[in-house]
Amino acid sequence: MSLPQHVRLVEVGPRDGLQNEAQPISVADKIRLVDDLTDAGLSYIEVGSFVSPKWVPQMAGSAEVFAGIQRKANVTYAALAPNLRGFEDALAAGVKEVAVFAAASEAFSQRNINCSISESIDRFLPIMEAARLHGVQVRGYVSCVLGCPYEGDVAPEQVARVAKALFAMGCYEVSLGDTIGTGTPGATRALIDAVAAFIPRSKLAGHFHDTYGQALANVYASLLEGIQVFDSSVAGLGGCPYAKGATGNVATEDVLYLLNGLGIDTGVNLDRLIRAGQRISEVLGRPNGSRVAKARLAS
Ligand code: HMG
Ligand code: MG
Repeated sequence: MSLPQHVRLVEVGPRDGLQNEAQPISVADKIRLVDDLTDAGLSYIEVGSFVSPKWVPQMAGSAEVFAGIQRKANVTYAALAPNLRGFEDALAAGVKEVAVFAAASEAFSQRNINCSISESIDRFLPIMEAARLHGVQVRGYVSCVLGCPYEGDVAPEQVARVAKALFAMGCYEVSLGDTIGTGTPGATRALIDAVAAFIPRSKLAGHFHDTYGQALANVYASLLEGIQVFDSSVAGLGGCPYAKGATGNVATEDVLYLLNGLGIDTGVNLDRLIRAGQRISEVLGRPNGSRVAKARLAS
């Protein structure tokens, strides 16, 4: 399959990146991060989550973040919603697109959202209905698509079943999450093949955490499989609170450098993106997790 001419980058740093941070991060710093990412030319930014603050304390200020950001036309500012309550809170905060999240493994579903996979799908149905009423688009996530921290291997057929359920209920796109970053390019290609039996490739996205250093290779493998949407996190921020040891998503700067090298258009400016990643890394007081940013900043 030939490579795409255009790729959409879904920036998940403010949500997936920051949700795992134990230290308090001010609303002002979160707003500045989102605004910096808008200035870098990203067309889709996951700003926060409307989840229980007892489960993910860092996302508690998401409504305030939405209230403070400078929204630009043609940029989607999205949030996670695990249930109808989360959807309603998101709507009240002016959110125009939400993401629901299911898991491909039962154990992860229980630890992450305290219910079985099928219960989670049932919980999403009223969200879909309310979203339709309010003209809100819903994106779907499947976690643990290439391995589970509690169950180990996850069968591609199981991922396909959950992805199919999300797509069938009206998610316009399903993001396949390698939550613990154990996937390798061969497994990634086999997974996409299995899921593509039920969902068009143009409706799938890749979401790779970089725990085992495979994420960029998995992005390339996915490109070869016809995937054109990738989730990534500026400065490689983050992890998942319910996947111990999982590191951040692949760094957006590194994915962008790869895509630029392949002549694939994204609309994102690398220098501005590096500045955004460096600024939040300094706020967090930690080294920048993007190899490209580190190299550029050292030169
Ligand atoms: P539960 O305890 O079963 O829910 O949690 P509950 O309905 O019994 O409610 C418990 C309490 O939470 C109640 O408050 C509710 O009001 C409140 P209390 O009476 O105890 O004071 N509550 C809420 N508060 C705010 N917003 C809400 C909400 N719902 C209930 N929406 C629940 C179930 C789903 C709420 C919980 O498990 C939860 O919030 N989980 C979120 C976990 C999470 O955010 N994980 C990280 C995101 S997923 C991820 O990172 C993976 C991904 O990146 C892809 C990948 O990498 O694979 C997407
Ligand atoms: Mg994730």
